[in-house]
Amino acid sequence: MKILVTGGAGFIGSAFVRMALDEDTAWRVVNLDKLTYAGNLENLAGVSESPRYRFVRGDIADGGAVMRLFAGEKPDAVVHFAAESHVDRSILSPEPAVRTNLYGTFCLLEAARVHQTPLFLHVSTDEVYGSLEEPLEADENFPLQPSSPYSASKAGSDLLALSYGKTFKLPVIVTRASNNYGPYQFPEKLIPLMISNAMEDKPLPIYGDGMQVRDWLFVDDHCRALLAVLDKGRAGEIYNVGGSLALPNKEVVRRILAATGKSESLMRYVADRPAHDRRYALSSEKVMRETGWAPRMPFDEGLALTVRWYRENIDWVRHVKSGEYMQYYERNYAHREP
Ligand code: NAD
Ligand code: TYD
Repeated sequence: MKILVTGGAGFIGSAFVRMALDEDTAWRVVNLDKLTYAGNLENLAGVSESPRYRFVRGDIADGGAVMRLFAGEKPDAVVHFAAESHVDRSILSPEPAVRTNLYGTFCLLEAARVHQTPLFLHVSTDEVYGSLEEPLEADENFPLQPSSPYSASKAGSDLLALSYGKTFKLPVIVTRASNNYGPYQFPEKLIPLMISNAMEDKPLPIYGDGMQVRDWLFVDDHCRALLAVLDKGRAGEIYNVGGSLALPNKEVVRRILAATGKSESLMRYVADRPAHDRRYALSSEKVMRETGWAPRMPFDEGLALTVRWYRENIDWVRHVKSGEYMQYYERNYAHREP
């Protein structure tokens, strides 16, 4: 079985590549990644020498290169992670999100259609459902009401992928996961940014009133769900994958401060994100029923493990917080000063 993973040098993609190579010795993985600011081959140091692993640097939105790769590799399955994955960046400049998430997904689907790839797993997000009032929970049939260029581009790519299933009989599965956290996450997302700032005694910028609710999923639980769906999921179906743990941001930040041993005086309420979704909530009943998957990692344990990882990998943090990161940080946070 040869799997073409896209975006395998990112946070979730690299966890998936490590797990897939570890879990099944019959699998081979080809990792197609452009190595944007979010892609980092250090995340794959442990597998880079494996004879069952190949890295290809490339852009999923380069249709010709993608087509040639499919012709050469003839993958048995595609697991598609590559994306511009951050809401704030998609607000600062929407074009890369639209290009990669929408057009890049199109290029992959076209190549999969032409080369009759047996399975295309499109990794998506619960953000496509938009903000939900309490006590609503989105199941897979819930209307799509994305709020940001990021979530709109993901919703569009979900629909395009599903259309290839219906129109061209390409076996497509879409998964929609909640907010992931864990080691190797780029410190632009809530949890790693707050850990990294706390470690440096820098202010922890909380958007708005900090009462926005997210469902937290440990990254390895997500990857196990993807393996379960590859094994037992049905073509043409959508599967929600949540951690069954909803917390307001403020509470997450408090727990990070407790785990890092820092004072709550570092919490800083700053200007809100435009169109900030108030609450995400999803039902994962379908993936649990059909595949037997369930999240395993309790949040406090996962958070403690994550904090420990960032403490022990200061060099990784230092490396990814390069010049580009500083420019982004300045652009995103300078105008939010309270
Ligand atoms: P990430 O930003 O950490 O990694 C994205 C990877 O994609 C990077 O390695 C980057 O180099 C690569 N990439 C970007 N543009 C590319 C292009 N044009 N061609 C080839 N490679 C490109 O993202 P992540 O957090 O690991 O998310 C992975 C996937 O999971 C995304 O599709 C995202 O929408 C989805 N998802 C993420 C979360 C989350 O909480 N992070 C939750 C649900 C779903
Ligand atoms: P984020 O990790 O960007 O994920 P998403 O927006 O995709 O859910 O943000 C998680 C939540 O944390 C979201 O409600 C926005 C909030 N947030 C802050 O309050 N401050 C920050 O500096 C960041 C990055 C996020």
